[in-house]
Amino acid sequence: MDLKEAIQRRRSIRKYLNKEIEASDIKKIEDLIEEINTKSQLHFRIVYDDTKSFARMVKYGWFENVKQYIAIYGKNDKDLDRKAGYYGEELVLNLVMMGLGTCWVAGTYDKKMAKSLKEEDERLVAIILFGYGEEVQSNRKSKAIQQVTKLNEDTPPWFKEGVEAALLAPTALNQQRFKIDYNNGKCVIHPLIGHLTKLDAGIVQYHFEVGSGHKAEVK
Ligand SMILES: Cc1cc2nc3c(=O)[nH]c(=O)nc-3n(C[C@H](O)[C@H](O)[C@H](O)COP(=O)(O)O)c2cc1C
Repeated sequence: MDLKEAIQRRRSIRKYLNKEIEASDIKKIEDLIEEINTKSQLHFRIVYDDTKSFARMVKYGWFENVKQYIAIYGKNDKDLDRKAGYYGEELVLNLVMMGLGTCWVAGTYDKKMAKSLKEEDERLVAIILFGYGEEVQSNRKSKAIQQVTKLNEDTPPWFKEGVEAALLAPTALNQQRFKIDYNNGKCVIHPLIGHLTKLDAGIVQYHFEVGSGHKAEVK
């Protein structure tokens, strides 16, 4: 599986199997995190065996067998949310390629434990759950291409492919609150006003770049 296939396959998985992650996979994930921490200057960290932070949501039937996750922290500058989304989604798609299920979570958990593990000058952005999950059928709704961009005779085919990949990106509450512009070879993603839209925009940026094979800016 490559990154493009991982984009097609990925769904948010909230119900996991009660099965330990293979040691060789854990090693791969730890190596990947180290690589991402170095290039992003963010602080991704695996938290193992924390069932407490999800106990309430498990009781409601929202999550099942959540045990480990990756918490994302960083120094609080104005690009932190976008960067966390961009590099977090690189991690998500790599986990999908390893056959793991994932789910971004910014709201529906008890943040006490994740916050207690941050350095003093850091902010907790979000977490990414991962584990072996059951295949789920997704009936997720998506915006149409023309709701997020304008295609015309100047827009190359690769731009449309990028937008299609962007529309498969996870966003908080599936809000898809972004626009993508093409102008003279330059692609710009605009987060709209709203909760978590900058974090979403970083995720969308990663999908767009994989789908199109071209860089995009977030403004
Ligand atoms: C930034 C962000 C925050 C999210 N927070 C939560 C959350 O707190 N709880 C939850 O169950 N899902 C959360 N999600 C998952 C979204 O609900 C999910 O991505 C969206 O509904 C689209 O579905 P899909 O990921 O299966 O394509 C979050 C996703 C993103 C990108």
